[in-house]
Amino acid sequence: MEGRTQGFAAHARTPEDIEGMRVAGKLAAEVLDYIAPYVKPGVTTGYLDKLCHDYMVEVQKTVPAPLNYAPPGHRPYPKSVCTSVNHQVCHGVPGDKVLRHGDIVNIDVTVIKDGWHGDTSRMFYAGEPSVQAKRLCEITYEAMWKGIDVVHPGATLGDIGHAVQRFAEDNGYSVVREFCGHGIGRRFHEEPQILHYGRPGQGPKLVQGMTFTVEPMINAGKRDIRQLSDGWTIVTADHSLSAQWEHTVLVTAAGYEILTVSPGMPAPPAFVARREQHPA
Ligand code: MF3
Ligand code: CO
Ligand code: CO
Repeated sequence: MEGRTQGFAAHARTPEDIEGMRVAGKLAAEVLDYIAPYVKPGVTTGYLDKLCHDYMVEVQKTVPAPLNYAPPGHRPYPKSVCTSVNHQVCHGVPGDKVLRHGDIVNIDVTVIKDGWHGDTSRMFYAGEPSVQAKRLCEITYEAMWKGIDVVHPGATLGDIGHAVQRFAEDNGYSVVREFCGHGIGRRFHEEPQILHYGRPGQGPKLVQGMTFTVEPMINAGKRDIRQLSDGWTIVTADHSLSAQWEHTVLVTAAGYEILTVSPGMPAPPAFVARREQHPA
């Protein structure tokens, strides 16, 4: 059978495309390495955005993909990264907010290099977080990897969503439904949508050469969200803490390759089997 049930073969990449995605992914991850030491009590999210912006534009010669990004139904995004603090779920707009001791903050970086996008985010701590906040960040990191670790040709999108949802809910948390991972390449957000919930075996099959993100948003409380009047920032409806991590991945013959790699990226959890991340 031809068609969508076979997977998103139209998004398969040539070797040259994949090298372009590797370069973009590494650069995006290196912005997070660069900003990590600046995330401290007393700094504003706007200052972190300015530092990232200048590093991308002046040092890396990359384009910050969020700046002026205007998908249908949205005003242009005014900043170069997203900074989502505590109960902010995603798309937090950097500004005058001062980080306080114990805050948890997601910084989400997307760069464009030679037309290719790399998209990755991590959680950072301003000072020492509460035990509960730290646990949420760690479980969310493992939830992302649960989703990534099922990726191989022939696996389905439902397999990814199920793995994330199962792990998050088994740990007493909820999965945000309104936002998801996405295909990525020459465009920031492409098909398919990568839901972080689902049922095993359901949905289109993964095909070697596909590139997409896995980026679960996990709430300590209920999954419901609200959008702030800035038109971008998403918060939990019950004001519970929320965390998110994101990698851009490539489907390989053997399974997957993480594209958003850098020296400072946290190691995968112990349950991730060691495998070659790069072709010989
Ligand atoms: N980087 C986000 C993602 O992972 C998207 C941010 S869109 C923006 O898909 F406009 F808010 F930057
Ligand atoms: Co993304
Ligand atoms: Co992102």
